[in-house]
Amino acid sequence: MPFFTLEGIDGSGKSTVISIIQKELEKRNANFIAVREPGSTGIGEKIRDMLLDPNVFISPVEEVYLYATSRAIFVRRIVLPALNSGKIVISERYVDSSFAYQGYGKGVPLKFIYEINKTAISGVFPNLTVLLDIDPSTGIKRLESKKKDRLELEGLNFYERVRDGYLKLAERFRYRYMVVDGTKEPGEIASIVLDKLERFMQ
Ligand SMILES: Nc1ncnc2c1ncn2[C@@H]1O[C@H](COP(=O)(O)OP(=O)(O)OP(=O)(O)O)[C@@H](O)[C@H]1O
Ligand SMILES: [Mg+2]
Repeated sequence: MPFFTLEGIDGSGKSTVISIIQKELEKRNANFIAVREPGSTGIGEKIRDMLLDPNVFISPVEEVYLYATSRAIFVRRIVLPALNSGKIVISERYVDSSFAYQGYGKGVPLKFIYEINKTAISGVFPNLTVLLDIDPSTGIKRLESKKKDRLELEGLNFYERVRDGYLKLAERFRYRYMVVDGTKEPGEIASIVLDKLERFMQ
């Protein structure tokens, strides 16, 4: 069964689009799950809390290992069982987030990220990745103040690199990427994505 991921910088609208798609797919009685890394695995959540704790110093390379660990759990406990039981899986963020954030954003070599992740995810790459492309300043404006503080701490330049990195990934993995303008109305974006999903599911 197909495995779809949604990617894009913070505030690009991933959760918003997934929630619209989820309602549409429910109406159509589609057999699917919509998840977000690290999903509902207790260990994954703990790793994520650690990664997001501003009081804990973690280097970019260490971040790669921790995200990969969280992903290894997510793919084995959630993604693979669902795919094997015939479900479509839609995930907010996956391996491309590491390429974009730790790779293009923080300078960790892409080859290293690829090697670590390939084994972590047992080679389970998405069939389709939708990139919601948006200007970082628009993304930041959209977010609530708590999240905004953390983002502004990283700086706009960081998010420019992440955004450009995502666009480079879309070029490099053209066979599985679709880039959508994230400034369109959420309903319009969701219908573009749904059209693509439907063609994939046929
Ligand atoms: N296409 C859109 N146009 C205008 N506003 C939007 C659009 N999509 C989302 N928003 C608004 O932007 C904010 C962030 O959206 P959302 O949480 O979906 O982003 P996200 O990509 O999931 O972010 P994160 O990476 O933090 O999970 C929300 O307040 C949402 O209502
Ligand atoms: Mg989200």
